[in-house]
Amino acid sequence: MENKQLLRAIKMRHSRRSFQDKMIPADMLVSAIDQINETAGLHIQLLLNNPEAFDSLKKSYGMFRGVRHLIALVGSSDDPYLYEKLGYYGEMLVLRATASNLATCWVGGTYSKNDCRCQLLPHEELVAVIAVGYGEETISMKEKVITSVIHRRHKTYAQCTKLEGTPPEWFKYGVEAALLAPSALNAQPVIFTWKASTAYASIPEKRKIEQVDLGIAKYHFELGAGCGEFGWGNHAGFTVNDNV
Ligand SMILES: Cc1cc2nc3c(=O)[nH]c(=O)nc-3n(C[C@H](O)[C@H](O)[C@H](O)COP(=O)(O)O)c2cc1C
Repeated sequence: MENKQLLRAIKMRHSRRSFQDKMIPADMLVSAIDQINETAGLHIQLLLNNPEAFDSLKKSYGMFRGVRHLIALVGSSDDPYLYEKLGYYGEMLVLRATASNLATCWVGGTYSKNDCRCQLLPHEELVAVIAVGYGEETISMKEKVITSVIHRRHKTYAQCTKLEGTPPEWFKYGVEAALLAPSALNAQPVIFTWKASTAYASIPEKRKIEQVDLGIAKYHFELGAGCGEFGWGNHAGFTVNDNV
């Protein structure tokens, strides 16, 4: 998929919590997942027809409707960057799904882990899921209320950057793309620093879910900047491609 389509998906995407009872074309997601698992050493799985994970009102607080299909974000707990990698590659799948007119929602807490039919090998962990499907055509009042409660605030460029000197244009485009990234409770915890001619991405607290947010934000930044990539880890620097 071309970067242009993914950049458009960044602008189009927002979390959906009500889905149509409809099968999705799985081929595109399955081949993207296979490729990611191969390159990143993860065990991400597409679970078609697994509504049980969202059936329990106690776990999902009734926030979701009609979730049938999930992407289970699984990998080895021995990987020191597991949460960040699942954020990065999970968002790669979210944007691909969005570009194919599918609706998505990252879910780290409000689902039943035990009812998720994913395979866990020894030392593996299920970190979060992504609900995926065709969104309900009309957004119900309930979904609007849930979105507005969780989505009250949006950070500004100034609130999520620390600048020493004037960064290049690509830094600004990267941050703008990262500002449109999903994050748990819409906390947008990632700070982008420009220092000694290098961009860095960091989170103030290294909790599991913030590390997922860090991976998601790094992926958005890379797409927006379009000229390089971050290393893994908190405070990792951005390497600009040779040809820039
Ligand atoms: C790692 C992660 C975990 C999340 N967990 C939940 C969740 O448990 N329940 C839920 O309803 N939304 C969850 N969300 C969705 C966020 O609430 C949503 O991304 C945020 O409010 C921003 O809204 P947007 O995605 O429409 O831009 C999660 C998002 C991320 C990135």
